Order: sequence, then structure tokens, then C-alpha cells
Amino acid sequence: METRRHDDEEPPNPVVVVTGCSTGGIGHALARAFAERKCRVVATSRSLRSMAELEHDHRFFLQELDVQSDESVRRAVDAVVDKFGGIDVLVNNAGVQCVGPLAEVPLSAMQQTFDTNVFGTVRMVQAVVPHMATRKRGKIVNVGSVAALASGPWSGTYTASKASIHALTDTLRLELAHFGIDVVSVVPGAIKSNIGDSAIASYNRMPEWKLFKPFEAAIRDRAYFSQKSKTTPTDEFAKHTVAAILKEKPPAWFTYGHYSTAMAIMYHLPLSVRDFILKKAMKG
Ligand SMILES: NC(=O)c1ccc[n+]([C@@H]2O[C@H](COP(=O)([O-])OP(=O)(O)OC[C@H]3O[C@@H](n4cnc5c(N)ncnc54)[C@H](OP(=O)(O)O)[C@@H]3O)[C@@H](O)[C@H]2O)c1
Repeated sequence: METRRHDDEEPPNPVVVVTGCSTGGIGHALARAFAERKCRVVATSRSLRSMAELEHDHRFFLQELDVQSDESVRRAVDAVVDKFGGIDVLVNNAGVQCVGPLAEVPLSAMQQTFDTNVFGTVRMVQAVVPHMATRKRGKIVNVGSVAALASGPWSGTYTASKASIHALTDTLRLELAHFGIDVVSVVPGAIKSNIGDSAIASYNRMPEWKLFKPFEAAIRDRAYFSQKSKTTPTDEFAKHTVAAILKEKPPAWFTYGHYSTAMAIMYHLPLSVRDFILKKAMKG
């Protein structure tokens, strides 16, 4: 006997789009964890080469997607909707770290960071929401950071971009609830990835500091803060995160990984205490 699915039921093999799936990063691990859970996974990144190991695995539909480009976002979203008829879950994971003292960091570096982390997320949301709203269901997951819970020295650009993500996500959750779309903040602690290497590559293109030259070593060190010995394995983070996202009623806020509890406590500390701890930890 034929069984019919009703519109208010979870689809059996949800179509999940993940941005920033280069090998070694959180997006890549999330893509694989969604595939393990029988999702149809659209793994995207700026270049197909960075996802080469997923190429011959039929569980993945690979797309080039640069979240800074309207055209690239439109092309990728159209390709997914053409192939699968819709998108059930969007994970806005693509992101870049930016280190440098706020009084001297080039505005162009700040703009690049915001264009990826903040406007890239909104670009994806605006492209995908019409498709989800038509079907009156969907999930949007925005990747923030525990760093935004207690902003310390040398990474002000990054933490400001992630604080924006948290704020945008809270608004989206209320606005999109009218259309049956769940919106989730995923807030990683320190997770093993390429984020430190990418941050240093961008840092090396910045001009020499004037006032802040004596802090050069501490600033460089900040780029790798999440990648030291106390780092949560990427696959472990991805497995727990995907389990939370795929719940019928996903949580509004999901945090996991090293420092996630410590940073939640930091958020509630008096500023004088928080400043003292951050100054020591970041040599600021
Ligand atoms: N690792 C941590 O401890 C940690 C903690 C808190 C939050 N996060 C957040 O987790 C997310 C993933 O970061 P990660 O740690 O996995 O770092 P990662 O290994 O450097 O991965 C970042 C991914 O974003 C992609 N990306 C950068 N700019 C892009 C653009 N314009 N369009 C599309 N993709 C772009 C990168 O592509 P390319 O390979 O082409 O550069 C890469 O695939 C980020 O939002 C990050 O802020 C990470």
C-alpha cells in the first residue's frame, strides 16, 4: 500500500546545505556527520579541490559557493533546488578569523571578515528562505562562537562578527517562526580545524603595527588560541551538533567543545574579573 507523507512531517532524507566544507574544518565534519544520518548533503566550498575526498562519494552533491558573492550564492541555491526540489536544512558554517589590534587593523580586513561571517550568512538566508517559506518548513543553523561571549584583546573583529551572528540569529528565529522555519545558534568552543592557519595567512598580509609592535607575539598566538592542546576533535563536535540539529524540535542555542562551559561562565562575570582573566590569557 502506498504511504503518503504529510507536509507537517519531517522529510525522511532531509536535504542539508553546508557552507565552508574544506577538508580539515568543521563544515567538512558536519557534512560527513549529516551523511552518516542519511541526509542528502550538499557540501559547498569556495573551490571543489578543497573537498576532493568527497568527490566520489554518492552521498554528497558538491557545489562551489563563495558566500561573499550574490551570483555564486544564487547559482548554487538554484542548482540545489533544481536537483532536490527544496532545502530542508541550511548550515551557515563558512567563516574566517581575523586577528589584529582594533586601533590599527586595516578596515579592509574588517570588511572582508564581516562580508564572510555576517553578510555571507544573511546572503545565504535571503536566498534560501523563500524556498523554505513556500513549503512552510526548514531549519537554519548559524555558526557563532564562544569567543563572542567574552570579547578579549587581538580578535575584536572576529568576536564582533560572531556577536552579530548571535544577534541576527535571535531575530531570525522570531521572524521566521511565522513560516515554520526553525533557527538555531550553534556555538562551538575550541574545535580542531584549519582556522588558525587561515588566520595567520591573512595576518601575514597586514601592514606592520605601529603602537602595537611589542604585542606581535601575543597577537600571532591569538590566531591559534583555539588550536592548542585543549581542542575538541572535529568529528566529535560534528556528531553531537548534527544530533541536536536533526531533533524534531532543535534547541535555539547549542554549544559544545572545549571552553564552552568556561566561556558561558565568563559571560556572567563582572567585567573587572573578566578583563583580568582575559588580560592574563591573551597577554593583552
Ligand atoms: N575551530 C574553532 O575552534 C571554532 C570556534 C568557534 C567558531 N568557529 C566557527 O566555525 C566555522 C568553521 O570554522 P573552522 O574552525 O572549521 O575553520 P576552517 O577550517 O578555516 O574552515 C572555514 C571554512 O570556511 C570557508 N570560507 C572562508 N571564506 C569563505 C567564503 N567567502 N565563502 C565560502 N566559504 C568560505 C573556508 O574555505 P577555504 O578553505 O576556501 O578558505 C573553510 O571551508 C566558522 O564560522 C568559525 O568562525 C570555529
